[in-house]
Amino acid sequence: MSEVKEYLYKILVVGDLGTGKTSIIRRYVHNIFSSNYKSTIGVDFALKVIQWSPDIIVRLQLWDIAGQERFGNMTRVYYKEALGAFVVCDVTRQSTFEGVTKWKDDIDQKVNLPNAWGGGRIPVVLLANKSDLVNEGHGQHVNPVEMDELCEKHGFIKWFETSAKDNTNIDDAARFLIQSILSIE
Ligand code: GTP
Ligand code: MG
Repeated sequence: MSEVKEYLYKILVVGDLGTGKTSIIRRYVHNIFSSNYKSTIGVDFALKVIQWSPDIIVRLQLWDIAGQERFGNMTRVYYKEALGAFVVCDVTRQSTFEGVTKWKDDIDQKVNLPNAWGGGRIPVVLLANKSDLVNEGHGQHVNPVEMDELCEKHGFIKWFETSAKDNTNIDDAARFLIQSILSIE
């Protein structure tokens, strides 16, 4: 019989204020959504345990970092030993796309993979959230060509248009990030 392997992955979730980081995590971990906005203060944590395959269990430790923290001096501490990240923007607010590159640069400056894994950049996935609002006439869907270019230019491994409200693409995005971390080791 093969032995079950367990992995613990610390994953950062960052992005500008109100883009939906906490909502994405609550949808992913607890399958709930609320339209009430309660801004995160500092950092919150959530754990999701995934039976990845018959012999692999992945524990995702999600670090939900307040958008406000980009202007603080704690991110270096929060980023320590992270193995992957999501950067979240809001399809209805163009300014949050500018935030994306700032968050990505911040991650690239402050965190690397362990030396045993080659010490390169951690894999980062871009989430363009609130896609449900586009269908209601707010903002517009992302342009796939522009998103591909943004990823290429700033080193995101992939982008997804997500909705925490409708539960669109969140599982797929998480699976993609986990797969990419598993393949580094
Ligand atoms: P900070 O903690 O302040 O950085 O914000 P956050 O990124 O954690 O945002 P949060 O998840 O608190 O969501 C902000 C607001 O957007 C809340 O009112 C949510 O209900 C709403 N929201 C989040 N995701 C979605 C979504 O996919 N669709 C819609 N329609 N609203 C969303
Ligand atoms: Mg939050």
